[in-house]
Amino acid sequence: MEAGHGHPSSVSEEEHDHPKNHGPIFTPFQGFWFLPQLVPNIISFQKHFQALDDDIIVASMAKAGTTWLKALVFAVVNRTRYTLLSESPLNTATPHQLVPYFEMTLFNEDHGIPDLATIPSPRLFSTHLPYSVLAQSIKQSNARIVYVTRNPLDVIVSFWHFLRSKPEHANWPFEECFESCCRGEEYCGPFWDHVLGYWKEGLEKPNKILFLRYEDMKRDPTLQIKRIAEFLGLPFSMEEERDGVIKEIARFCSFSNLKNLEVNKTGRLLPFTPDNKHLFRKGEVSDHVNYLTPSAIERYGKILEEKLSGSGLAF
Ligand code: A3P
Repeated sequence: MEAGHGHPSSVSEEEHDHPKNHGPIFTPFQGFWFLPQLVPNIISFQKHFQALDDDIIVASMAKAGTTWLKALVFAVVNRTRYTLLSESPLNTATPHQLVPYFEMTLFNEDHGIPDLATIPSPRLFSTHLPYSVLAQSIKQSNARIVYVTRNPLDVIVSFWHFLRSKPEHANWPFEECFESCCRGEEYCGPFWDHVLGYWKEGLEKPNKILFLRYEDMKRDPTLQIKRIAEFLGLPFSMEEERDGVIKEIARFCSFSNLKNLEVNKTGRLLPFTPDNKHLFRKGEVSDHVNYLTPSAIERYGKILEEKLSGSGLAF
């Protein structure tokens, strides 16, 4: 689907009377759906961001495991600087502060063009933007991208819960959220176009994009942490492996540990984002079975199968 051919959701009169009953309002931009207030930031990012060859970018659809992956990448990259994870900045700053979003935090219209040249290398950035929407310099440089995806039905359920934590979306019916996602009208969606952009580019350039799945990370975090380290050119030594460094990173970045850090229990990233504590809900695989009927699951499955057909990608 070309999202740009559709119409952005709009608030009906009835919804104005019941303002807590609506979802977020997206606007089409470059073939995908975004929050309107982020479009100027995206344009500024596309125009001004200069990638460096050793930049590392965490990319994802929102609710696919971004927070977890940011913590893992930060811990892997900085493991010789903070040999004790109890001394890591991850204890005092959120993963989103340590691995900031281009389109939300860095290229924020209110703050002008950021000076990113002073950030020590390797610079860690993140984005929910689709591959085609990224600044050209990322595509032309040797900057590396670590992408995480997840069963889209779990993404939908997670997104709905996350948004409902905000008063204006408190009574947003789940069915409306689901229907909108079936049409591809979701944050940085359609999901299928988002995932396909990174998938296809990763097939052509395996040294540029590492394609991870939330479910694999849950099943065997140690294996995925090793893949991340190798991809970033920072493989674990035999000694590190023997000393349990990988296992310690997995433990530190686990759902229960991150959720219970004081820094992740308080505050929020931006005025319009939900509180940080809502970034940690259940952290499980297949929670969607508790929200969707078998026929709804089948219906979405058919849409997805058609959209991904011929790509070699399946969920
Ligand atoms: P659920 O809502 O299904 O629990 P994102 O970081 O992209 O916003 O994704 C949020 C989802 O990842 C939420 O899923 C959240 O609970 C889960 N999550 C956050 N930290 C995690 C961790 N360390 N391990 C596993 N899942 C985590």
